[in-house]
Amino acid sequence: MKSCILLCIFFFSTVSINFSSADPDSLQDTCPAAPTGKNTAIFINGLPCKNQSTITASDFKTTKLKEPGDTDNFYRSALTLVSAFDFPGLNTLGLSIARTDLDVDGSVLPHSHPRATEMVFVAEGVVIAGFLDTSGNYFQEVLRTGDVFVFPRGLLHVSFNVGFKAATLYSVFNCQNPGVVGVNDAVFEPNMDMIDTIVKNFRSGEDRIRNVTFSSSNP
Ligand SMILES: *[C@@H]1O[C@H](CO)[C@@H](O)[C@H](O)[C@H]1NC(C)=O
Repeated sequence: MKSCILLCIFFFSTVSINFSSADPDSLQDTCPAAPTGKNTAIFINGLPCKNQSTITASDFKTTKLKEPGDTDNFYRSALTLVSAFDFPGLNTLGLSIARTDLDVDGSVLPHSHPRATEMVFVAEGVVIAGFLDTSGNYFQEVLRTGDVFVFPRGLLHVSFNVGFKAATLYSVFNCQNPGVVGVNDAVFEPNMDMIDTIVKNFRSGEDRIRNVTFSSSNP
């Protein structure tokens, strides 16, 4: 009995040591170790903090989402992401924010955020939002003004404007630097074929929803 208690204490202390010694989550894509030595600049996981005595209220305000993004492009959409790089007050808080503007029939191509879950709020318009899970299941919903949808971390997702006027979405991410993989001017150009295929699949999903909406409103 005594040895069991000791064993249990040992077990739980080992478990808690393992939890507390886990590495912190990465806040950027890569961070190879710099050569050690004198005169090397310090690059950390995240951004260095300002001198405490120079912090001002303006560090905690951004006006970068005030104006619509430029939707004069092939996809008729614009994504403006404000991370800790553009908004100093976000540093260490695990949050960032974005604005998505979609013209009529505009779309945001499949992309993912490797470090964050995205919660999106529809400020204006009617959109379809959908994501693919790692088993290939596709989940989508029609969102109207005031609706909120969530894209789980790292999963490919899209949005399409299916309304009759421009749509505006605001998103909050649970990382100060969510990262974007697979958008229009993507880093992954060799994978454009894959993205095209996914777009077609998403598009057929959209058509289904349009048909369903059409037939249910016209019995
Ligand atoms: C922080 O800022 C204050 C006020 O400007 C200055 O006196 C102090 O030397 C600064 N500290 C560091 C470590 O730079």
